[in-house]
Amino acid sequence: MPAAPLPLPYRLDERVAVVTGAGSGIGRATAQVLAAAGALAVCTDVDGGAAEATAKSIHAGGHRAASAALDVSDRAAVFDLVEGVAAEYGRLDVLCNIAGIIRTGEVVDVEEADLDAVLDVNFKGTFHACQAAARIMCAAGGGSIVNTASGAVDSATPGIMSYSVSKAAVVQLTRNLAAEVGRHGVRVNAVAPGLVRTAMTARHYLLPDGSLDEEARAAAEKPLRRMSPLGLIGDPEDIAYAIHYLVSDAARFVTGQILRPNGGVAMPW
Ligand SMILES: NC(=O)c1ccc[n+]([C@@H]2O[C@H](COP(=O)([O-])OP(=O)(O)OC[C@H]3O[C@@H](n4cnc5c(N)ncnc54)[C@H](O)[C@@H]3O)[C@@H](O)[C@H]2O)c1
Repeated sequence: MPAAPLPLPYRLDERVAVVTGAGSGIGRATAQVLAAAGALAVCTDVDGGAAEATAKSIHAGGHRAASAALDVSDRAAVFDLVEGVAAEYGRLDVLCNIAGIIRTGEVVDVEEADLDAVLDVNFKGTFHACQAAARIMCAAGGGSIVNTASGAVDSATPGIMSYSVSKAAVVQLTRNLAAEVGRHGVRVNAVAPGLVRTAMTARHYLLPDGSLDEEARAAAEKPLRRMSPLGLIGDPEDIAYAIHYLVSDAARFVTGQILRPNGGVAMPW
């Protein structure tokens, strides 16, 4: 983890930010960082209790947050949430689409239901929120959206086709939307993180009692560490700081980009 908390040079005072998947990992860290930079962080997650816990942690630090249960695959609920936030606070400046799931299985074995579930959350969930927010931001004359892709879009890792396809779709959605809404002052970018230590990646190393097998995790991380010139595996804050930059005015000239916070791992193609 970075020697946190780092000073946040780009202020987001008065801004209202909606974060999906804010109950855990990268989403939670992002909500915390944006709030520490001055934004009101609206923490949403399919697990409403986890979203509330993130908001409470933000309040405990003296910053502003609200929380709501939100399943991003529920299009009507996403529109209600996004439009409700804009109505309640009078503005919507930032949307961070971070909610995501993964299902494993080689292409020849993938069940259609698993493929649908991954596309519904990772791609269509991002699409619904982008569409709801972009309509509001374009009418208001500005805003910033950050979507979450993955290093998986740069390679063909066996066993995660559904996930990789969903994230490749997120990349293309990001580019198309950026091209269409730039004239309204709305910027759209994505992060494509490398391996980050979160619940999503820890699930492989859980012991029967639910605790983490640190040794197994360290062994699995070894080859990835070797691929990074920095010898690093990511922590959620590493991605949150990149997102903070992208949503801030410091990135005024940046749109349609896929930022790869991944320790410098170069993909084979
Ligand atoms: N951890 C990594 O190595 C890594 C790498 C690249 C990309 N990512 C992406 O980063 C994002 C965050 O992942 P993480 O590692 O923090 O995982 P995580 O499992 O810690 O957090 C994901 C959060 O999304 C929520 N969520 C799941 N389904 C949802 C739904 N339908 N609606 C709303 N919320 C939902 C979960 O409840 C959870 O709180 C994901 O999009 C993931 O694909 C993660």
